[in-house]
Amino acid sequence: MLTIVVKDYRELSEKAAAVVAGALKGNPALVLGLATGSTPESMYARLVDLYRQNTVSFARVRTFNLDEYAYIPAGNPQSYTYYMKKNFFDHVDINPAYTHLPACGRKEDVKKTCSAYESEIESAGGIDLQVLGLGVNGHIGFNEPGPHLQVKTHLVTLAEETVEANSRFFDSPGQVPRQAITMGMGTIMQAKKILLLASGRAKAGAVEKALNGRVTTALPASFLQLHRDATVLIDEEAANLL
Ligand code: GLP
Repeated sequence: MLTIVVKDYRELSEKAAAVVAGALKGNPALVLGLATGSTPESMYARLVDLYRQNTVSFARVRTFNLDEYAYIPAGNPQSYTYYMKKNFFDHVDINPAYTHLPACGRKEDVKKTCSAYESEIESAGGIDLQVLGLGVNGHIGFNEPGPHLQVKTHLVTLAEETVEANSRFFDSPGQVPRQAITMGMGTIMQAKKILLLASGRAKAGAVEKALNGRVTTALPASFLQLHRDATVLIDEEAANLL
């Protein structure tokens, strides 16, 4: 695992966008795994800038997002589908048909949605570069700490600390969806290259355990230590406990 510490959030976002742009230069038909949350927001803004400057094109790129809240309408401003359109897809030349999120409207369709998502990733040839954020409890995607982790895309009940952390995007904690569909740990670990982003002091504990601790289901990001090509890009505050 390669760890890169940069000064602040701005530098982190620029560097993250540069990694994505570099991968795109090498392969214009890149299969890109994407994350939501506050951390990658400026990376997306920077990628939009690079597109506007004609430095990159997303015309042949296919994307697969890590996760989506279960049963949330796509038009709901809290959905990750909405987030991706607002922060990225609507501002670049990506083909909407090439963008994927594990969205599911009805309980009856969960199984079908999850297995179809895995098949779509597989028929795209697998994920070339997966961008990850990091939960304060060490989750990646929505793979929450627990006695075991699931391998493939699945329905998950969110941990209390995740509901609390994500409640800042909602009017009240009661409005945060309690369930989500997420890529599994195997789906993530099969990506050819992984770029984990973490910024700010709140992430320092999870970063330290993920990088230096034992590999444990109690901290899903620790599994990245087993990946062949994972880069951890963090700012000085997130690196505070290293
Ligand atoms: C969310 C998402 C993750 C994200 C993480 C960190 O719950 N499911 O994919 O990486 O939490 O979010 P943030 O970047 O807002 O701290």
